[in-house]
Amino acid sequence: MHTSHLLVTGVGGHLGRLVAEQLIDAGATVPVVGTSRSPERLATLIRRGLTLRRADFDEPDALPAAFADAERMLLISTAAANAGPRRVRQHTQAIRAALQAGVRHIAYTSFLDADSTPLQALAADHASTEAELTQGPVGHSILRHAFYMEMLLTTLPPAIASGRLLSSNTRAGVAYVARADCASADAAALRDGFDGRRTLDITGGQAVSAAGLVRQLNDTLGTDIVAVDASRQDVAAHLAACGLPPPMAQMLAAIDEGLGRGAMARVSEDLERLTGARPTTVEAFLRDHRASLLAR
Ligand SMILES: NC(=O)c1ccc[n+]([C@@H]2O[C@H](COP(=O)([O-])OP(=O)(O)OC[C@H]3O[C@@H](n4cnc5c(N)ncnc54)[C@H](OP(=O)(O)O)[C@@H]3O)[C@@H](O)[C@H]2O)c1
Repeated sequence: MHTSHLLVTGVGGHLGRLVAEQLIDAGATVPVVGTSRSPERLATLIRRGLTLRRADFDEPDALPAAFADAERMLLISTAAANAGPRRVRQHTQAIRAALQAGVRHIAYTSFLDADSTPLQALAADHASTEAELTQGPVGHSILRHAFYMEMLLTTLPPAIASGRLLSSNTRAGVAYVARADCASADAAALRDGFDGRRTLDITGGQAVSAAGLVRQLNDTLGTDIVAVDASRQDVAAHLAACGLPPPMAQMLAAIDEGLGRGAMARVSEDLERLTGARPTTVEAFLRDHRASLLAR
């Protein structure tokens, strides 16, 4: 069996598509294969020359064939809508199928401090998947992503609309990382040929506090927003009053509280070491998204 492909799962998602595009742009010397539940919908990637196969982690019997010929695989964690036992089962089935298919190295998109974060509710599936890898026989790259900077596109519009950024996090910064930077790091970890076992922290280059975020927002957008210390309940009520669906408002308030306990505060240089590039700053991100933030 010829095993030299690089394989990326979930190329129909935002992150997977970016990784696939970066591998195509980089002109990988070995063939690149992408898998998705719906490859037929990914005409642009097909036109760009990506080989696509169908893979649904809920259908484990078909996975070894979908992963055949891959030497290295990036396993993209499935959407949070699957959270809980189903998601852990999906990841475990994908890892076991990869072993069966002869994959020699699995990179996995995990969560910063998956086994110790105060945001356990979000991280538990990732910690279980990491354990499946670390207790198993295969070489791996665990890529612990910090929060995507794109989350700001959901959390900032209520602040812009109301003139107030409510947060119970008065102390800790957040090392937001741009999704495209995560994709660069994931693509680099897939290509670099590392064949041992490693855990890397994929974070932004600076930890930004709520007050710092407001400062950058006002400087970049010309707004006049103030940072307000508030309880978790008040944060949730404020976000709901600004129009977010109540379950999302509750979830974001819980995340905000976890951030206050230091989740996502740590800054690592692993991303820059992998990609050779400085991570996107929050300031640059706000500048790039100025129009869409102000339009909401
Ligand atoms: N660090 C953070 O802040 C953060 C934020 C959000 C999400 N995440 C995690 O990072 C992942 C990628 O983020 P994203 O923004 O690209 O999310 P997204 O656009 O919602 O993509 C969801 C991903 O899950 C895959 N998926 C869902 N069900 C699957 C199944 N049954 N079998 C195989 N794959 C399945 C999708 O693949 P196909 O559609 O191609 O089948 C797609 O790659 C998410 O799934 C989530 O685990 C991290």
